[in-house]
Amino acid sequence: MSFENILLGVEETIAVITVNRPKALNALNRKTLEELEAAVHEVGRNSSLRALIITGAGEKSFVAGADIVEMSALQPVEARRFSELGYRVGTAIERLEIPVIAAVNGFALGGGCELAMACDFIIASTNASFGQPEVSLGVIPGFGGCVRLPKLVGTAWAKYLVYSGERISAGKAREIGLVLEVVEPAELMPRARAIAASIAKRGPLAVAQAKRVMDLSPDMDLASAARLEQQAFGLCFGTEDAREGLNAFAAKREAQFKNR
Ligand code: CAA
Repeated sequence: MSFENILLGVEETIAVITVNRPKALNALNRKTLEELEAAVHEVGRNSSLRALIITGAGEKSFVAGADIVEMSALQPVEARRFSELGYRVGTAIERLEIPVIAAVNGFALGGGCELAMACDFIIASTNASFGQPEVSLGVIPGFGGCVRLPKLVGTAWAKYLVYSGERISAGKAREIGLVLEVVEPAELMPRARAIAASIAKRGPLAVAQAKRVMDLSPDMDLASAARLEQQAFGLCFGTEDAREGLNAFAAKREAQFKNR
């Protein structure tokens, strides 16, 4: 599939989606969101992929939010649909079986911060900044900011960021647990690729099960979450990959996983 506002590349077992509207600092209009949703589904259909990296074109901005020009013409029902579309992109990312890394280069504001938060974790360059500035526009975060941010950083930081609309640096974002690692701009994609490559060496079915348990368990009570993990643990033992991994350890050789 060809896209206008995003780039989808595949490097061996790693896919890279680049939001590519640099003139608008990669802001997310409806078309870009629809393309992102389609691209994430395309990645999901490719069983040879082991990880996805999402980034923004250029060094200035990851994504500077939802497209404010387009948003300014929305009526309530259209705005609700726009918000639902943004959530669908986040949900599609979360439901991918493979891990998704946000490589944040520059502004991750509003919908950009929300897009990054839907990924499994965020690697940021030193020039990245994060924020939910929607209240400065008289609206609220609409792609999951009020929902995912408190889970990631706790309610105090989430409320401070959403109520004040203030931006924070990559360093501060790491301090509060929003960002996993901060690297120099030139190191951002190499670091994201190195992490993706490390994931790609592991048992893909096991990684997928672990992702599922870790994504679902925070919304469950402890006993149900433990049962989900136990079921997923058991399921792994029916895979060829688990036989291969366990045998390879005993034989002191590297496991060759086949995603079976
Ligand atoms: N939507 C549409 N266009 C945007 C944009 C956005 N979110 N952010 C930046 N742009 C455009 C600017 O209008 C400008 O276009 P022109 O050259 O045609 O004038 C171009 O990108 C470059 O931007 P600036 O000249 O403003 O660049 P700057 O370096 O001076 O400032 C910035 C950068 C601080 C990120 C500033 O652009 C800004 O504040 N952008 C808006 C950030 C924001 O409020 N994001 C939240 C959007 S609402 C949202 O996301 C809702 C939701 O949760 C669903």
